[in-house]
Amino acid sequence: MSLLAIDHLTLSAGAQTLVSGLSLAIAAGERVGLIGESGSGKSLTAMAATGLLPPGITAAGSVLLGGRQVVGAPDRVLDRLRGTVTATIFQEPLTALDPLLRVGRQVAEPLRRRAARDGRTLDRHQLRRDVQALLEQVALPHPERIARAYPHELSGGQRQRIAIAMALACQPQLLIADEPTTALDVTTQAEILKLLDTLVRERGMALLFISHDLPIVAQVVQRVVVLRRGVAVERGPVEEVFARPRHEYTGALVAAARAFDAALGGSR
Ligand SMILES: Nc1ncnc2c1ncn2[C@@H]1O[C@H](COP(=O)(O)OP(=O)(O)O)[C@@H](O)[C@H]1O
Ligand SMILES: [Mg+2]
Repeated sequence: MSLLAIDHLTLSAGAQTLVSGLSLAIAAGERVGLIGESGSGKSLTAMAATGLLPPGITAAGSVLLGGRQVVGAPDRVLDRLRGTVTATIFQEPLTALDPLLRVGRQVAEPLRRRAARDGRTLDRHQLRRDVQALLEQVALPHPERIARAYPHELSGGQRQRIAIAMALACQPQLLIADEPTTALDVTTQAEILKLLDTLVRERGMALLFISHDLPIVAQVVQRVVVLRRGVAVERGPVEEVFARPRHEYTGALVAAARAFDAALGGSR
């Protein structure tokens, strides 16, 4: 059974169709990329997958998350799915973090909720130990000090590591990462990408990795779906799509990626 099964999903704002008849399935442990230029409907698709569409956007079709229908589901049902079946990491980690709370407390919250769902309560000491362990897993140096910091006292890369720690705290079966490295400088991008790749593989999590950047996606996923103006124009194993793009648009993406690599003296 698929963890996520999107079937003929259409998203509209009034008369305007933003995503059209999109189908996409992800099985347990599978890593899938969703690629497309800015405005192609990637983020809306990610939001629809967890039932978090902005007001004014309507969904038709079917989205099964952990076997449960998301389209039209009440918050009560969605709340249970979010953070157990799936967790999401966004482009700008500041939006996921509360500026007024020390990051240790913010990482503790999903840990506490996850334990409560499993019928366990964590005392303060256990919670602190678990927070430390998570901060170590996302390779943050000096976890004790970081836990006491406020978001603005951290770098962009450190904040994204905190956001990843919060997602991991949920122990999701499917991680959705929506342009998780786009806001970061190139060096930090590479580090975060490597971290995500390692964590997803170690934990056997499924991954929906969303990006406008084909070479970035190619590093972490097995399969890609290419979205253009809300329509899936191409899909297949990464190597195949890279080597033999069938759609003109995908060809342009690959050519641009190659040109960029060549300019950097890369060897892909
Ligand atoms: N709340 C909204 N209301 C109306 N249109 C929206 C809304 N959010 C996004 N859109 C439109 O939907 C399209 C897809 O947006 P989005 O999914 O954010 O694209 P991407 O993530 O691929 O850059 C864009 O044309 C955008 O302007
Ligand atoms: Mg987006």
